[in-house]
Amino acid sequence: MPNPLFDTPAPGAGDPATDVELDLGDDRADIVSHDTYLRGVPHATFARLRRDDPVSWVDEPDGRGFWAVTRYHDVLAVSRRPEVFSSAQGIRLEDMTPEECEARRTIMEMDPPQHTAVRRLVSRPFTPRGVQQYEALVRSLTRDVLDAAEGSPAVEFVGAIARQIPLRLLGRLLGVPDADGEWLVERGDALIGNTDPEFTDFVVDRTDTDPYRLLPFRSPVALELFDYAEGLIGERRSCPGGDLMSALVAPMADGEVLTDLQLKNFFTLMVAAGNDTTRYSMAAGMAALAERPALWAALRADPDRVRRIPALVEEILRWSTVTMHFRRTAVADTELAGRRIRRGDKVVMWYVAANFDDAAFGSPYRFVPARDPNDHTTFGRHSAHLCLGAHLARLELRILLEELLERVEAFSVDGTPERLRSNFIAGIKRLPLALSWQRGGAAR
Ligand code: HEM
Repeated sequence: MPNPLFDTPAPGAGDPATDVELDLGDDRADIVSHDTYLRGVPHATFARLRRDDPVSWVDEPDGRGFWAVTRYHDVLAVSRRPEVFSSAQGIRLEDMTPEECEARRTIMEMDPPQHTAVRRLVSRPFTPRGVQQYEALVRSLTRDVLDAAEGSPAVEFVGAIARQIPLRLLGRLLGVPDADGEWLVERGDALIGNTDPEFTDFVVDRTDTDPYRLLPFRSPVALELFDYAEGLIGERRSCPGGDLMSALVAPMADGEVLTDLQLKNFFTLMVAAGNDTTRYSMAAGMAALAERPALWAALRADPDRVRRIPALVEEILRWSTVTMHFRRTAVADTELAGRRIRRGDKVVMWYVAANFDDAAFGSPYRFVPARDPNDHTTFGRHSAHLCLGAHLARLELRILLEELLERVEAFSVDGTPERLRSNFIAGIKRLPLALSWQRGGAAR
């Protein structure tokens, strides 16, 4: 059955009921400052850069400056050439000494062929097929979380729901006892939220983190995670189970194994990368839908809604672009969009700018739930480093929407959302919602 809000013939031909204007913010914002993002993404600034200076030089107060790449096709051009644009010297803005790079190296800071070899070892559980086996688990965890919230007219969505699902799932995947899940996620938040005083005492641009420069995210919290991982690795070696960690410690078909340091780094990366990214995508998706109640109503009334959710998930992923940028370092002199890039220069792909480039997306500032094509850069398009957890994140988002559609008639933002202080992660850390639950509970 056709659904006018979802069978939009082309982005741009929107329904006024859903066509809410996006706040584009300041067009002269400081894109390096973490404080800038407390007010949201400065889309107007990225639009100006795309138009006037698409590969622009940006000075940093605490660094050696970088090239900001803001157009979609230029981002892809960087992404496709790891032999020129290397990940090995760091993937965030921070400048690191060779010693720091070496100590903190995870799969993310490797180039081919080392990257290819390690990725092969860890990728099996994350293929679409590997992830399919978690569908029932994700559904049951999601239902548990929603059962606890069901009936409450006001819910802080991030704390009560969005934080809980990836946290519990990751705990299960890594084979961590449920009781340790909360502790682990607090550690993950302290690492990836290392610029927000709510999450860490070691705010990198405000305190002296030099003593911790050899640790992931310059944070002593990484040591706690290393210790925890060491215990877990030992346990899984002596007593393997069906979890991801057991699969990773086991020798591969050709006898290859991951070293202890690789395993500990991978564990820490999972706790940092696999948690808050999905959480913040969920929050951004719900914030977008809350502003467009006609979409939710149309979906609820649509008997074909399950089929429409995957496209909606992709639009939420584009809209939220939770990891706003990733950096590379030029390892040879080269050219990009007419600019001379010198060996050693930092080159930063602003995924959040690419995802709103009208050269790639019609009406980019409109939330188009059935957008097609929707080749967003949110997981790092055409990159050897394409997000390993992409299928898992998609699964979590899809199931959350399916389950919420069964239970929630309508919802709206009921208070002021709060954002993470970070130029790296776009995160709504608190989203107060008013919800009307379906009377008599979900039809399950
Ligand atoms: C919406 C949620 C997520 C977003 C937006 C996201 C984003 C990204 C991006 C952009 C990259 C590429 C980094 C680069 O180009 O250097 C990446 C890599 C990665 N992600 Fe995700 N991620 C998400 C969820 C997850 C989850 C759930 C997991 C694990 C359970 C995960 C694990 C990883 C790992 C291990 C890598 C490194 C892959 C490699 O270097 O080969 N991510 N992610």
